[in-house]
Amino acid sequence: MKQKILVTGGAGFLGSHLCDKLVAQGHDVLCVDNFFTGTKANVAHLMSHPNFELMRHDVTFPLYVEVDEIYNLACPASPIHYQWDPVQTTKTSVHGAINMLGLAKRVKAKILQASTSEVYGDPEVHPQPESYWGKVNPVGIRSCYDEGKRCAETLFFDYWRQHQLEIKVVRIFNTYGPRMHPKDGRVVSNFIVQALKGEDITIFGDGSQTRSFCYVDDLSEAMVRAMSTGSDFTGPVNIGNPREFTMLELAELVLRLTTSKSKIVHKPLPQDDPKQRKPDIRLAKEAFGWEPKVSLEDGLRETITYFKKTI
Ligand SMILES: NC(=O)c1ccc[n+]([C@@H]2O[C@H](COP(=O)([O-])OP(=O)(O)OC[C@H]3O[C@@H](n4cnc5c(N)ncnc54)[C@H](O)[C@@H]3O)[C@@H](O)[C@H]2O)c1
Repeated sequence: MKQKILVTGGAGFLGSHLCDKLVAQGHDVLCVDNFFTGTKANVAHLMSHPNFELMRHDVTFPLYVEVDEIYNLACPASPIHYQWDPVQTTKTSVHGAINMLGLAKRVKAKILQASTSEVYGDPEVHPQPESYWGKVNPVGIRSCYDEGKRCAETLFFDYWRQHQLEIKVVRIFNTYGPRMHPKDGRVVSNFIVQALKGEDITIFGDGSQTRSFCYVDDLSEAMVRAMSTGSDFTGPVNIGNPREFTMLELAELVLRLTTSKSKIVHKPLPQDDPKQRKPDIRLAKEAFGWEPKVSLEDGLRETITYFKKTI
């Protein structure tokens, strides 16, 4: 059935792909963004579509619109961006959640929160199941993001318990793909941009730390499936790709796919950088039959093609 859907942070990397998917499914999509890290270019191809609307708005202020579903993605996601104005980052997560939950309550909309694997901090449990409470530093330089997102989850669950709101909380693990910000310092975009420019590929530490990478199409499919679950399903639910790669393996794959002559160089590890992160996705499989389909090699090819066009 055609729904009126609000996507906050819809002009960002993940948000714009989600808008693509929802518009393609025939829904009416209202994309709200303050363009801090997102761009109009990310949604320019949707502007002439009759089912798509773009609104400049900061979610730390209340919003009054009539919608059936809300995907709350507004929040800078990369350390470079969220540490640039940490107070605003916490406000975006916390005030943004309060405003969007208030809106959902008023119009009786279903609401999904784009939470993050960062709620697990530097985990002592591997892979991380949803039942793990995390090991998070409350006063470090990543805390504005990690604790902001944790508080947003708390608010979602309190609105659910106290006001019977229909909520879905998805914990997103590293995701990559076309429309990533070329300068956001995330490892996939860094390596690709460095390789395409023939610059040194910087690995923090010895490169043995692992990450799992989910392709953006798999991720947006998971968000839509999570939203379509029955009212008894709230999450939190992990979404990500459990296949692990070391930073060294990723760098070597990027070098091969770009046929770049760049050299790999090592730099010291940043503060609070988690050594390992890998989702346990059994719940997503069980609750809405989801698992990632796109291999790292195929996803990287698409991403490299995008960066070749844009940089
Ligand atoms: N990409 C990932 O790997 C990843 C991993 C975990 C969680 N997430 C979460 O997914 C969401 C989207 O991430 P992304 O990778 O697309 O990042 P992004 O920076 O590309 O997108 C975030 C969007 O939110 C907008 N925004 C920021 N503050 C805002 C505010 N106060 N009001 C309105 N809009 C605001 C930005 O302009 C941008 O368009 C974020 O909430 C992020 O925390 C992403």
